[in-house]
Amino acid sequence: MSLGARDQAVLWHPYTQAALAPHALGVVAGQGASLHLDDGRVILDAISSWWTCVHGHAHPRLAQALLHQAQTLEHVIFAGFTHEPGVALAEQLTALTGLDRVFYSDNGSTAVEVALKMAYQYWAHRGEKRTRFLTLEHAYHGDTVGAMSVSGIPLFARVFSDLLFSADVYEGSIHDDVAAVIVEPMVQGAGGMRVYPPEFLAKLAAQCRASGTLLIADEVMTGFGRTGTMFACEHAAVRPDILCLSKGLTGGTLPFAATVATDAIYQAFWSDDRARTFFHGHSYCGNPLGCAVALASLELFAEQPLLERSKTIGARIEEQLAAVDLPVRGLGCIRALDVPSRDAGYLADIGPRIAAHALERGVLLRPLGNVVYAMPPLCTTDDEADQIGAVMADAVRATA
Ligand SMILES: Cc1ncc(COP(=O)(O)O)c(C=O)c1O
Repeated sequence: MSLGARDQAVLWHPYTQAALAPHALGVVAGQGASLHLDDGRVILDAISSWWTCVHGHAHPRLAQALLHQAQTLEHVIFAGFTHEPGVALAEQLTALTGLDRVFYSDNGSTAVEVALKMAYQYWAHRGEKRTRFLTLEHAYHGDTVGAMSVSGIPLFARVFSDLLFSADVYEGSIHDDVAAVIVEPMVQGAGGMRVYPPEFLAKLAAQCRASGTLLIADEVMTGFGRTGTMFACEHAAVRPDILCLSKGLTGGTLPFAATVATDAIYQAFWSDDRARTFFHGHSYCGNPLGCAVALASLELFAEQPLLERSKTIGARIEEQLAAVDLPVRGLGCIRALDVPSRDAGYLADIGPRIAAHALERGVLLRPLGNVVYAMPPLCTTDDEADQIGAVMADAVRATA
């Protein structure tokens, strides 16, 4: 029996309507920007496997770091214990971000949950009644209940609406009962690869400062070179109060996350009263394997001009997209366009048709409805970037 058939008998896949989706494709190996399928095909992973693998698949340096750490210390409770990779990574993340305190968790949604709870409890400790969160239209911050509450994609949240806490959409001003504003800086991902100007982010940050509101930057997608800078906040010279990191933090190799906060926030929890503890933790907080691989990933960023590479990859894809006469948007290695279609939105039929067309030509795309985009690994070669752009253009032309 094929892997796909065995899979279909026992598995339940994320964001997949099994009754309509084709069989899952069996992957036997990955190398660089390529995935090797069990039927012998080799395809280019133009979306970095849900925006994770910054350095491509099975990077030898990340694999080495993982093996070494697994043979040394695979895991230890992170309450009351610490370890070298955990400390070293926090030293590097604070130096890179200009923030002060690192709280580890295990995926993008938990990084966001931690940020929301941190912000909420911060104000409780300060004795100020700030309990509201502001978010942007089209925002996506993850699938746990708190993260869904501050997301703005109605399709994903509708069925859960009674479970969610209410958050308001930012409409140009911030009142003094707002605990925090949460944003995806510069590019909103799942909401349709929407790029917005740095001036907007700078204005929002200035308003947060003026009203004393915390700014949470969710860089789960945009972090680690995706937008051509290490973090997207740099485009607007903005330092958030809390920064959420995951996906590219380990170069996409392990599920791992960090929520990085200012000292002012940390200090609000510092007390001889145990009731003021930050009551949050996961079994795998501070997992040494994640820390070691994240350190190896940061080493690659220090050794190679990956931020420049990100911009080159994006520019090359855009050159190929000139073949379709549609406006292209993007930043760094990200390029996206809206395919004219009778139906728009996440469920637009055209998405799966474009994906199928691209797959036949050796490129993995996963359109967000009628939004077709690429965000390939930063190891993508010039030829591969050209191929991704050309296949995108071809798929758009063939299906629009
Ligand atoms: C901006 C942003 N925040 C949070 C998340 C949630 O991350 P995860 O899927 O690892 O829970 C995502 C995932 O795509 C994201 O794009």
